[in-house]
Amino acid sequence: MRVSSIVMDLSIRFMGLPMPNPLVVSSSGLSASVEGVKSAVEAGAGAVVLKSLFEEDIAAAVERERIGINESHPEVESYLQKMGMILEPEEYLSLVEKSVQLADVPIIASLNCYSANWWSDYARRMEKVGANAIELNVAQLATDPKKEAAQLEDDLVALVELARRVVKIPIAVKIGQNYSALPHLVARLHRAGVDSLTLFNRYYRFDIDIERIGFKPGNSLSTREEFNPLLRWIGIISSPDNLDIAASTGVHGAPEVIKALLAGADAVQLCSILYRKGLNEIAAIKEGLETWMEEHDYSTISDFQGLFSFKKNAAYYQRLQYVKSINLNRSS
Ligand SMILES: Cc1cc2nc3c(=O)[nH]c(=O)nc-3n(C[C@H](O)[C@H](O)[C@H](O)COP(=O)(O)O)c2cc1C
Repeated sequence: MRVSSIVMDLSIRFMGLPMPNPLVVSSSGLSASVEGVKSAVEAGAGAVVLKSLFEEDIAAAVERERIGINESHPEVESYLQKMGMILEPEEYLSLVEKSVQLADVPIIASLNCYSANWWSDYARRMEKVGANAIELNVAQLATDPKKEAAQLEDDLVALVELARRVVKIPIAVKIGQNYSALPHLVARLHRAGVDSLTLFNRYYRFDIDIERIGFKPGNSLSTREEFNPLLRWIGIISSPDNLDIAASTGVHGAPEVIKALLAGADAVQLCSILYRKGLNEIAAIKEGLETWMEEHDYSTISDFQGLFSFKKNAAYYQRLQYVKSINLNRSS
């Protein structure tokens, strides 16, 4: 390794928030408890997105209050369990509050929402207990042939407009990959007041067990091969005009972090790799990033961020087809 006198500065501003480095622990079981958040911060995370509070959890709590049934009633409890209760909304607010108190990096609360009903009040309450920002985890799945793509996009924009009306803190929106005209949608989300986009969520996957002939869970953790399609979208979406991008899915090491930043991401989110290798991997990735910066004479993230964005390399990004067929028999 080359010895250099350059002092590396990994600090960034993300959604206007100062961060010591661009490595964010994704919303997941890793950030579902105060202990988890503490460990992530101690391991050197630049920010932490808390596990999502799911809209159905809020709906269940509201329903319980409405029907006035005691929490310990076994039938209600089993009903709530079936609805996928993970954290009680009140418990969640306490997680936000305690995490903010213990952490010296941004704590981003995460709110799953798909209708405009229950969640907005909780967005307000998350802000009140000190969340530095909110990530809206919006999962849209097109299953209805009568519903046009434009309607799904309108629904998403309406959610963001509502969130923007109820909170003043920065808002990130985390979406899936399946939008046909992503730049247009992003421009609308930006106008609606989004500060950052998390591209992309990797939703729960199911599989089919062909021996037992039934459903089974698919791979819950990503592989690094899943990162590459993300690179193109980060480069296309990345824009200088105060809309930040966090790369998520398949970021498994320093090479993906560097590529995401070169394509124009402002931050990267880590999840599967931390489940596989533990939170110490944050330090290893940081070290890999610093070493690469040193080797290439970069001392700050902004020295190289976006060098390979769409704006600067449109022709390369627009190349979609293999011009010549690959010769599989090259060695023969
Ligand atoms: C066990 C597990 C739980 C997750 N829970 C959430 C969640 O509550 N909210 C959310 O927005 N994403 C959730 N995710 C998705 C991750 O935040 C992340 O976007 C996804 O795993 C892709 O990143 P990766 O390739 O680094 O794993 C979860 C992922 C896993 C594996």
